[in-house]
Amino acid sequence: MAPNFGRIPPSFPAFFLLLLVTAATHPSPAAAAGGGHDYSDALRKSILFFEGQRSGKLPPDQRVKWRRDSALRDGASIGHDLTGGYYDAGDNIKFGFPMAFTTTLLSWSIIDFGKNMGSELHNAVKAVKWGTDYLLKVTAVPGTVYVQVGDALSDHNCWERPEDMDTLRTAFKIDRAHPGSDVAGETAAALAAASIVFQSRDPPYSRLLLHRAVEVFEFANNYRGAYSTSLNHVVCPFYCDVNGYQDELLWGAAWLHKASRRREYREYIVRNEVVLHAGDTINEFGWDNKHAGINVLISKEVLMGNADYLKSFRQNADAFICSVLPGISHPQIQYSPGGLIFKAGGSNMQHVTSLSFLLLAYSNYLSHSNKVVPCGGTSASSAQIKRLARRQVDYILGDNPVRISYMVGYGERYPQRIHHRGSSLPSVGAHPAHIGCKEGSRYYLSPNPNPNVLVGAVVGGPNSTDDFPDSRPYFQESEPTTYINAPLVGLLAYFSAHP
Ligand SMILES: *[C@@H]1O[C@H](CO)[C@@H](O)[C@H](O)[C@H]1NC(C)=O
Repeated sequence: MAPNFGRIPPSFPAFFLLLLVTAATHPSPAAAAGGGHDYSDALRKSILFFEGQRSGKLPPDQRVKWRRDSALRDGASIGHDLTGGYYDAGDNIKFGFPMAFTTTLLSWSIIDFGKNMGSELHNAVKAVKWGTDYLLKVTAVPGTVYVQVGDALSDHNCWERPEDMDTLRTAFKIDRAHPGSDVAGETAAALAAASIVFQSRDPPYSRLLLHRAVEVFEFANNYRGAYSTSLNHVVCPFYCDVNGYQDELLWGAAWLHKASRRREYREYIVRNEVVLHAGDTINEFGWDNKHAGINVLISKEVLMGNADYLKSFRQNADAFICSVLPGISHPQIQYSPGGLIFKAGGSNMQHVTSLSFLLLAYSNYLSHSNKVVPCGGTSASSAQIKRLARRQVDYILGDNPVRISYMVGYGERYPQRIHHRGSSLPSVGAHPAHIGCKEGSRYYLSPNPNPNVLVGAVVGGPNSTDDFPDSRPYFQESEPTTYINAPLVGLLAYFSAHP
C-alpha cells in the first residue's frame, strides 16, 4: 500500500533511546551557560538554507549544488511566467501566503540587523530578491495575485524531488471577485519591506517594489475578504487564513508607512487601529497572525519619540513583552521544561524564532530610547528581554535536554532524517534517472540519514517535553520551513556581532 506522506504511523528508530542515554550523561539545561556558540557560522548556514528551497532556474552562483532547476513550466498553462520563488517547506508547493511572510521577515532582519551581518549581508539580500522577483511576477496583473502554484493534495501524495515533479502545477489566484486581503496584504508588506532593503543598493528596483506594494495594498484594502473563502479546498488545511485578514491590512499599511513615509498610511493606521483590532491576540506572531509584529513595528516610532498619537501600539507591544517573559506577569506563553517557548499545533520553532525576533527588535528600540517595559508591579529591562531571546537561540543551537542542534549542519549532532523531499531522496547528480511519485516511498521510510544535507535548515523542533524523534514521518518535529529561518537570520546576525 502506498504511504500517505505525513500520516504514517511512527516507525520509531532506536536512535531516540540513544538520545536519552546521551542526555543523561550531560549537564542539565539549567547548567548550560549559553554563549560559546559560533553565531557567525549559524548565520551563514541559516541564509544558505534558502538556496536549497529555490524553485525555478538556478543561477550560476548557486551554492547548494545537489539542487537543480525545477518547475520551469510553472504558469505556462495560463500563459504567465510563474517560475521562481521558494518551496515553503519539505514539499514542492509554492504557497504565496507564507512565502510573502518569509520575505517580509527576511527584509526586517536586514533592516534592523543588516549592519551586523558582515560578509553575509549580500547573501541575505539575494535571499530577499529571490522572493521579491517572484512576488513581482505574481502581482504583475493589476487586481490579481497568483497565490499558489501546485496542488497540495497531488503533491503530498508523492515523495518526489522537485526536479522530477510530475504532479499538478495548477496556478491559483485571487482577484476582485474572489478577494484575499490576507495574502494580498502580506504581499504588499513584503514588497514594501523589501523596498527599504534595496533603497540604497538598487534604487530603481526599490522604486518598482514600492510602486507595486502601493497597488497591491490598494487591491487588498478595496476588495476585502479572506482567500480561504474562495480557495478553501486549495489552501486549507495548509495555509488557511484562520485569524482573519484585518491584521494583514494594518501590517501592510505599517510597512508602507515605514517605506514611503506617506501621510495617508499613517492616517490609515490611526483611523483603523480599533476597527482592525490592533490589540487582539497580541501574543502571537506568524504567517497567519501579525498582531504582535504590528505593535512592535509601530512602537519603534513611539519609542523614538515622534509619534505620540500611536502610543496605544506601544501599550500593546509592552503587554506582548510581559506575556512572553516567564514569571513576570500572568505568562500567557508556555515553555517546555527545558526552557523553549512552546505552542501546540506543530512546527513549534516558527513561534520560537518569530517571537524571539520581536523580543530582540523591541529590546533594541528600548535601549536606543532608554526605556523599560512596565509589567504590572515590576518592569523588564532591555537586557532582560535580550537574554530571553538569546536563550531561545542557544536552545536551537544545542543547549537543550537532548543536546542536539535543531539546525541541520550546525554543531556535532543535528537532525539526520528531516521531512524534506529533496534532502531525503538521492540528488539528480547521484541518481540521474527519474524517481516517480511512489518510488520515493522507500527513501521516505528508510531508517538511513538523508543523503543531501540541507545545511542551515531549522526543523519544527522538539515536542512539549523536549523530546525529538528525528524521524521523517514526524513532520511536525522534523520538517523545516522558510518562515522558521527568516526571523532567525536577524537573531543570529545580532548575536554574531554581540557574542
Ligand atoms: C514527546 O516525545 C516522546 C518520544 O516520542 C514521548 O515519549 C512523549 O510522550 C512526547 N510528549 C508529549 C507531550 O507528547
